[in-house]
Amino acid sequence: MNNRILIIGALGQLGGVFIEALLKRGDFVLASDINTPKKDNMKCEFVFLDALNERKIKKIILKYNISQIYNFAAVLSAKGEKDPMTTWDINMGALLKVVKASLNTSVQTIFWPSSIAVFSKHSGLACVKNDVTMFPNTMYGITKLAGEKIMSYYNEKGLMDIRSIRYPGVVSSTEPGGGTTDYVVEMLQNAKENKPYTCPLRKDTVLPMIHIKDVVTATLELMGVEKEKISTSGAYNLGSFETSPEKWSNTINSLGYSLKITYKEDFRQKIADSWPKKVDDSLFRRDIAWEPIYDERATAEDIIEQLVI
Ligand code: SER
Repeated sequence: MNNRILIIGALGQLGGVFIEALLKRGDFVLASDINTPKKDNMKCEFVFLDALNERKIKKIILKYNISQIYNFAAVLSAKGEKDPMTTWDINMGALLKVVKASLNTSVQTIFWPSSIAVFSKHSGLACVKNDVTMFPNTMYGITKLAGEKIMSYYNEKGLMDIRSIRYPGVVSSTEPGGGTTDYVVEMLQNAKENKPYTCPLRKDTVLPMIHIKDVVTATLELMGVEKEKISTSGAYNLGSFETSPEKWSNTINSLGYSLKITYKEDFRQKIADSWPKKVDDSLFRRDIAWEPIYDERATAEDIIEQLVI
């Protein structure tokens, strides 16, 4: 395919797996982040980049003749509630600066992830459809919804091709860092280390989750299709499986672990209660012809195997 790709926020939960998949198919990949990578940890070129620095983003686009940007710089839901205004500044700033720096350059397409955090009690949480009422409760959700409006604006005016998926909780062997769905990764980690786990969510809290590799295939498929196939100017729902802390721990223990859990809900419970139990992603599956590979058990099994303790 040979795209020339810039990944912003490449050292977070998602970057590494995207880099691997993109390199594997022969793309040029330039990773960037505000943090510096551990020595010898990068499989591609790396450049220090603050996603709020529009001039530097533009300089990099021009220097490397970038054709696609994956913009993963964001403060997640739980961390974002500790300092909502900074969350707004970072999440919106990172989107707007990247879009602005890309206009009238070699950049053809931008990927920017949205989230299930755009939904709320008014959205029909038993199984949320793609386009429903949205009154997000977290600042993170507010920035994702505002970002969806921004992308629609640029797409509809034909000024930039911006594509987006509302990611559910992502299960990965990399640390998520500050989300409400982080318990899925933390439980796997503790099970592998044979440590007990204190769960911040009630045991029956059902949320949609997905294996990181399914996130990558869905996203790369979306980025690869002709624009005509995309029937929305905004973001797509994406689902894979649904689980709760109790169900997830049973799945983990069915793999031969003996994870012990204490439930101690905190402010994250209220956030989780405002999010969907399931998402209807029929629009994405129809437009993109995608299906997940990993079910709940296969996800737990694959990720726990990859965890380094
Ligand atoms: N995983 C994210 C979070 O919990 C949702 O997009 O904040």
